[in-house]
Amino acid sequence: MKFYLKYLILFFCTMNILSCGQKNNQPTKAKVMNQKTIIGIIGAGHVGGTLGKKWAKAGYKVLFSSRNPEQLRDLITEASHGSEATTVTDAAKRADIIVLAVPYKAEAAISKQIMPYIEGKILLDCDNAYPGRDGEIATEARKLGAGLYSYKNYFPETKFIRAFSSLPVANVGSATANNPVEIPYAVSEESIKITAEALITAADGKPKFIGGLENSAQLDY
Ligand SMILES: NC(=O)c1ccc[n+]([C@@H]2O[C@H](COP(=O)([O-])OP(=O)(O)OC[C@H]3O[C@@H](n4cnc5c(N)ncnc54)[C@H](OP(=O)(O)O)[C@@H]3O)[C@@H](O)[C@H]2O)c1
Repeated sequence: MKFYLKYLILFFCTMNILSCGQKNNQPTKAKVMNQKTIIGIIGAGHVGGTLGKKWAKAGYKVLFSSRNPEQLRDLITEASHGSEATTVTDAAKRADIIVLAVPYKAEAAISKQIMPYIEGKILLDCDNAYPGRDGEIATEARKLGAGLYSYKNYFPETKFIRAFSSLPVANVGSATANNPVEIPYAVSEESIKITAEALITAADGKPKFIGGLENSAQLDY
């Protein structure tokens, strides 16, 4: 009798350990499966707003930011799907992917502001450089191609995508999954093509790879 009791206790202890293991594993697995990629958009005007709404709808977690995040309430209501408005620094800190959609002349200061948070992250730059709006820096940037200029001078520590700069954003806004708009893009390294194409597709674009950033002048508008 004593012998059976000993094995009964051993059996229940073993079952308890196994079930604890399962309980511990289940939430971890669920968390990984539910985890959303976070896109932090710096600049929430025509470009940032249009792209952010599409990405939020496609299932990304979108953080819209600008110098005045308190003015972005209507945008996050429209974008919904858990999108938030926040500061530039907070967006850069929390995001897996950072998107720039600001006047080109703002990039130099923004790069200093977000530098501590962006090393090794993917950065998508949609900005165009116009001398009339952005000053002398725009002339310099356009000589090289604004994408390559920004990567070299402002964001060399990122994995850099140049896209959505070469066409009016209204074309993206009116595109649909069934009627996508062609989006040419360039990248700093081949490994991020897959992310570039996922972002473009989620925004109802049809990706067209044009090569490395040395070709990025073709994407200046
Ligand atoms: N519109 C197009 O069809 C189009 C197409 C391709 C490329 N682009 C380029 O994309 C960029 C954005 O264009 P857009 O039409 O979206 O401009 P926009 O409607 O004027 O929006 C610019 C956004 O940037 C924010 N911003 C400005 N300076 C900032 C700073 N220093 N730090 C943080 N946020 C700042 C503004 O908000 P606050 O002022 O409140 O900070 C605003 O949310 C430009 O470089 C443009 O040339 C535009």
